[in-house]
Amino acid sequence: MEHLTHDILVVGGGAAGLRAGIAAVERSPKLSVAIVSKVYPMRSHTVSAEGGMAAVTREYDSLDSHAYDTIKGSDFLADQDSVEYFVKQAPHEAVQLEHWGCPFSRDPDGRISVRAFGGMSVKRTLFATDKIGFHLLHTLFQTSLKYDRIHRYDEWFVTSLLTNANRVEGVTAIDIRTGELFTILAKAVIIATGGCGRVFQFTTNGWIKTGDGMALAYRAGVPLKDMEMVQYHPTLLPNTGILITEAARGEGGYLINKDGERFMKRYVPGKMELGPRDIISRSELTEIKEGRGFEGRYGSYVELDLRHLGEKKIEEKLPFVKELAEKYVGIDPAHDPIPVRPGQHYQMGGVHTNIEGFTGLGGLYAAGEAACVSMNGANRLGSNSLTECLVYGAVAGETVADYVAKQPTPSFGNPVQGLAMTEETRIYDGLLKHENGERTSTIRIDMQKGMEEHVGIFRDENSLREGCRIIEDLKKRMTNSTVDDKDRVFNTDLVSALELDFMLDCAEAITYSARARTESRGAHSRIDYPKRDDTSFLKHTLAYRNPNGPRMEYLPVTITRWKPEERVY
Ligand code: FUM
Repeated sequence: MEHLTHDILVVGGGAAGLRAGIAAVERSPKLSVAIVSKVYPMRSHTVSAEGGMAAVTREYDSLDSHAYDTIKGSDFLADQDSVEYFVKQAPHEAVQLEHWGCPFSRDPDGRISVRAFGGMSVKRTLFATDKIGFHLLHTLFQTSLKYDRIHRYDEWFVTSLLTNANRVEGVTAIDIRTGELFTILAKAVIIATGGCGRVFQFTTNGWIKTGDGMALAYRAGVPLKDMEMVQYHPTLLPNTGILITEAARGEGGYLINKDGERFMKRYVPGKMELGPRDIISRSELTEIKEGRGFEGRYGSYVELDLRHLGEKKIEEKLPFVKELAEKYVGIDPAHDPIPVRPGQHYQMGGVHTNIEGFTGLGGLYAAGEAACVSMNGANRLGSNSLTECLVYGAVAGETVADYVAKQPTPSFGNPVQGLAMTEETRIYDGLLKHENGERTSTIRIDMQKGMEEHVGIFRDENSLREGCRIIEDLKKRMTNSTVDDKDRVFNTDLVSALELDFMLDCAEAITYSARARTESRGAHSRIDYPKRDDTSFLKHTLAYRNPNGPRMEYLPVTITRWKPEERVY
């Protein structure tokens, strides 16, 4: 098997991965950095971010206010040192992005415009109309092109981490175009592969968000932290799951039930439509359950009413919302309300890291949605995640650049070579050659249905026990699965089987962690344990991979200045 060598290998070409790569080469003038991405970087899921990125940039705002909003939003599960570092670095990252050419929207006086977002006490979300992800990703990608020491492996799929004596020394990766498996050796690996939303049926996440990096780390013995904390966004189009940005409410949109009532007055009267996402999503389901929702071809929904904003404001501030409503629902939001319902959007949990992105396994780091640093705790505030990718991508890149300066280059000897050969056998002799097994598409559909039904917005012991049983059963079925396409060239059937295998690990960690947390906190809402229980659960869940279901350990939450209090808005 051919092998390649770099100093640093970044898995993932979205915001966190590109930011980490740029930070690493800027930190050290000699490093060779590989960015391995299963899609061309401009197709990374960052591109679909809409509403904006949070940072303190105005005189009326303060770092403490941003920190407090984030910690309260997290239902006090966020590590406060991570949050403090995040809010401090956020304005620098915003300015850096602007200097790299990000075309932010501007106020008449030339300052970058800011808008309101859920759970934020003041306007602090910087935006580029409602297409921040597209512009931010372009800016990072084009900046990365300046550095010829950043080597890209586009459309390469990482299948395993290669470890030696408690240290990562590289990865195995398929060049999807040829189907050839390579070993890429590196002194350090940064996981920046995003979330795992595709384990659910109804999600804003693109097809590529299959938790690859989370599963890679989990298989290498690193725990997944707080995986039970799954964010449901309140406004998805019921037919497709396409996101209608929270910016629509930030700009003044209303949520209404079938009586035309702004129902959020019953749940968070102090914030109304700008309450945090966990509370709004639950409120929408409660309205529907109590008979105040609309019924449609794609199930029950509520409405997002923008009519009072007027055509001019919608065109100026929310052109993408208008485009999506026109193309996917056939309505003009200036004249008709948009049907919406909650769905999976973001994974607060992820690969356990410290504040520098270090996972505890020598040479392995993680950043962005794939990681759990943890600054989002039990509920992330909208617009904090792009900034998180920048802040913690940069930290990981810089830290790793310093780390690799003192490390020897791994050699292609054993055990790494042996592990790579075993991986080749597993994929090409095992999975690809296996005949007459079950098609992976049926396993994927059953996983997504099972997660939707049993590990959704409202949970209890019975549903979670059934969720665990379903996932374990699916894992067994997966061992007898068949890939129809037996060719090696551009075999997307094979790649999606490998992705499904990763997703089952993520689904397992989510479900078991949720079952073990017998309290309600943030997005984790247990109808059998409706109260937050700080005595027993002011702690992070760590799920370690184990043949008979994950082993759970717990880690105290870092509290610096904000004592946990009741979360009322
Ligand atoms: O609604 C949105 O624009 C989503 C933003 C986010 O998840 O940060």
